[in-house]
Amino acid sequence: MNSSDTLAARIASTPDTHTSLPVPSTPPSQADLTEALDFVRQHHREHPEQTVPLHTRLRQVQRQFDETGTYRHTTEELTFGARVAWRNSSRCIGRLYWNSLQVLDRREATTPEEIHEHLITHLRRGTNGGRIRPTISVFAPDTPDRPGPRVWNDQLIRYAGYRRPDGSVVGDAAYTDFTDLVQRMGWNGPGGPFDVLPLVIATHDTKPQLFDLPADAVLEVPLRHPDHPWFAELDLRWHALPAISNMRLRIGGVDYPLAPFNGWYMGTEIGARNLVDEDRYNLLSLVAACLGLDTSDEATLWRDRALVELNVAVLHSFSEAGVRISDHHTESRRFLTHLEKEERAGRTVPADWTWIVPPVSGGITPVFHRYYDEADQNPNFHLDDDARDRGRGRCPYGHDRQR
Ligand code: ARG
Repeated sequence: MNSSDTLAARIASTPDTHTSLPVPSTPPSQADLTEALDFVRQHHREHPEQTVPLHTRLRQVQRQFDETGTYRHTTEELTFGARVAWRNSSRCIGRLYWNSLQVLDRREATTPEEIHEHLITHLRRGTNGGRIRPTISVFAPDTPDRPGPRVWNDQLIRYAGYRRPDGSVVGDAAYTDFTDLVQRMGWNGPGGPFDVLPLVIATHDTKPQLFDLPADAVLEVPLRHPDHPWFAELDLRWHALPAISNMRLRIGGVDYPLAPFNGWYMGTEIGARNLVDEDRYNLLSLVAACLGLDTSDEATLWRDRALVELNVAVLHSFSEAGVRISDHHTESRRFLTHLEKEERAGRTVPADWTWIVPPVSGGITPVFHRYYDEADQNPNFHLDDDARDRGRGRCPYGHDRQR
């Protein structure tokens, strides 16, 4: 079977998109200073072992703010702030290990080339030969004189989606606009279903530039099924590292627009969403057909059966390849452990039920059967509308108006 043709035939296309304008960065305010001082207090409360006394640090921050409109985090503050931003990520089920986040301080990097080098180092250190380590790289913050650098991609590793004349798509259908965009910028993709997209890196002083990722920095796992040899012939694969690159990290009133972070995958992200959503790889009917299921009637539950086998294949393939991944039952239990630990520490855990409950077998995971505290806390990660649009190839500077 020619798998890419089969895939292409099964993949849905996405509708055309529009452009949006860049959002100007906002000047520092009294609210930012208040947030800064609150953060410094929080840091001292949770880490009382500081050599600089709280009142001294508060005065320093206040003075820097008065003189420059911002302040510089110490390395310890940056590390603590990034870890707490993860702890406060209400959509993340994997927060039990928030305090072991590896924080790479990249605030001094200025050129796109330097940034690219650091991003590759991030991929290697985060991937760690398959023993994935939660890692964040923090680049320069926005300041009153200059905005920090950005990466347009929504994740460091994503697959291209090529639109065909008949409206079908080869690859990840969610990335057709982004693929069009980088092609207009000069990228020449090979046209396969799993081509890693180049990075678009933009700084205050430079136009957005394309950078390829070296193949040896991108660990991928070919998918096979423990009981169905034909599954491997579908030639499916997925990348080992989910590394979100378009969320702004905000710590104590300071915005870091480029602070890519990774954890390890929970199997359902790949096996129940990326390969299954109708506007992604849309593979459920193909898998059902290969399994020989009766798809003539919803009540045969062919969708559910195909979904489970796809998820079995993802978990099996990753663990056989020595790449860290977890199943949704294990990750749900860990999340309840996290809730208990945080409660013992006297903290509440902001959580969004609609994101925490896994997309497969929700009701048989313990996270389903309760309510959560929803109030947002600081520090945190934020997805701005313009960053979301850029990550999906809706370029705010009008590059894609030339179509
Ligand atoms: N769901 C996203 C993806 O499939 C990744 C989000 C972050 N996931 C994680 N396990 N840290 O690529």
